[in-house]
Amino acid sequence: MADSVLLLGLVGLCFCLATASDHSPLQDFCVADSSSNVLVNGLTCKSPSLVQASDFSFSGLHMAGNTSNAVGSKVTPVTVAQLPGLNTLGISLVRIDYAPWGINPPHTHPRASEILTVLEGSLEVGFVTSNPENRLISKVLQKGDVFVFPVGLIHFQRNAGQVNSVAIAALSSQNPGVIPIANTVFGSNPDISSDILVRAFQLDKNVVGSIQSKF
Ligand SMILES: *[C@@H]1O[C@H](CO)[C@@H](O)[C@H](O)[C@H]1NC(C)=O
Repeated sequence: MADSVLLLGLVGLCFCLATASDHSPLQDFCVADSSSNVLVNGLTCKSPSLVQASDFSFSGLHMAGNTSNAVGSKVTPVTVAQLPGLNTLGISLVRIDYAPWGINPPHTHPRASEILTVLEGSLEVGFVTSNPENRLISKVLQKGDVFVFPVGLIHFQRNAGQVNSVAIAALSSQNPGVIPIANTVFGSNPDISSDILVRAFQLDKNVVGSIQSKF
């Protein structure tokens, strides 16, 4: 009996330590006060008496993002930075536009799972499980299909057709964060030493330099 209580306690402890999502709110809302200099985990609250409907609203997600760039996609975010009412609520939204064959390159969100639905076109999507399996789980989605990318895992999308694609995705954080793999590894400021990247990626030094110069 005592053993099972101890085990339950340990399971509970491990669950708490492994939980990296946003905390639950302690009041109805905490609209972000962008003028405050107080630093907390999240953003400080505006006085509830000053809060307006516009603090809970964002406009413009009907507009296509500009995909004329190297990867052929554009993410339009609606996180706490665009919609202050999201502060402490643990959710956010993005619109993603894809040119034909455009990609949203491999990246990860340190603080959020992501659930995505295709509104127009079709998308090849996938994520890779953690080491040592590194299993690629991928699928081609059609309009109306939904896919989930578990928190922290590297994932990507590619427009699988000749026409523009559009997706909407919800994320389980007011501020999911994004770590694009290529940009962070090859485009850090200052650079990660090329000797480290040569060994890590088993590449020639000139190839590493060439990749670094693109980010
Ligand atoms: C889209 O972005 C490209 C590259 O930055 C720019 O040349 C073009 O004017 C933009 N198009 C629109 C409609 O804003």
